[in-house]
Amino acid sequence: MKFFVDTADVADIADLAATGLLDGVTTNPSLIHKAGRNFLEVVKEICGIVEGPVSAEVVAADFEGMLREADVVRRLAPNVCVKLPLTMEGLKACKRLTSEGTMVNVTLCFSANQALLAAKAGATFISPFVGRHDDVGQDGMDLIEDIRLIYDNYDFTTEILVASVRHPIHILQSARIGADVITAPPAVLRALANHPLTEKGLAQFTADWAKTGQTIA
Ligand code: G3P
Repeated sequence: MKFFVDTADVADIADLAATGLLDGVTTNPSLIHKAGRNFLEVVKEICGIVEGPVSAEVVAADFEGMLREADVVRRLAPNVCVKLPLTMEGLKACKRLTSEGTMVNVTLCFSANQALLAAKAGATFISPFVGRHDDVGQDGMDLIEDIRLIYDNYDFTTEILVASVRHPIHILQSARIGADVITAPPAVLRALANHPLTEKGLAQFTADWAKTGQTIA
């Protein structure tokens, strides 16, 4: 399973990229606003930090406007992935852009039927939002299971990119189901490495080592 980070904070991206565990980056207009940076500048900078896909979202609602904006962002770097909303206009733009060889991430997916449409439109990635499902009292992971089943039934190559990930359990469940990618905030990715018994064991080893009076050199 690939790990993408869901942020436009370049310091966080560079720090996580240094671990070698980062396969890509996703951004959205809210994350760009949070970063307080120029959209095109920050996307270009991120594309220079990671080799994998960097999702950059268009904001036009109509097909022609989406294509115009997509053309601007895809010129920034070869690893730009144009992010489009799951609307009929977005799907139309998805078909056009992927047929031209541009990566497309179809976002704001909340149903398996929407994911089926995105696959038929040739999407590179489909982004179902699990956390926002949980927020309204529905289990977001049920949606991931349904999409996995449907895509496997028809051998669709669209990758399931689990988005709106809020905690490590979402990532564990995504891996169990066989999702292709998860995108999570930096803190959630870092939390995957934490375990109290690891900390306790390390403290014990460090204390016992000090008692030996030795150094490794
Ligand atoms: O980028 C889309 C998605 O990951 C947003 O997550 O937490 O705002 O629902 P969230």
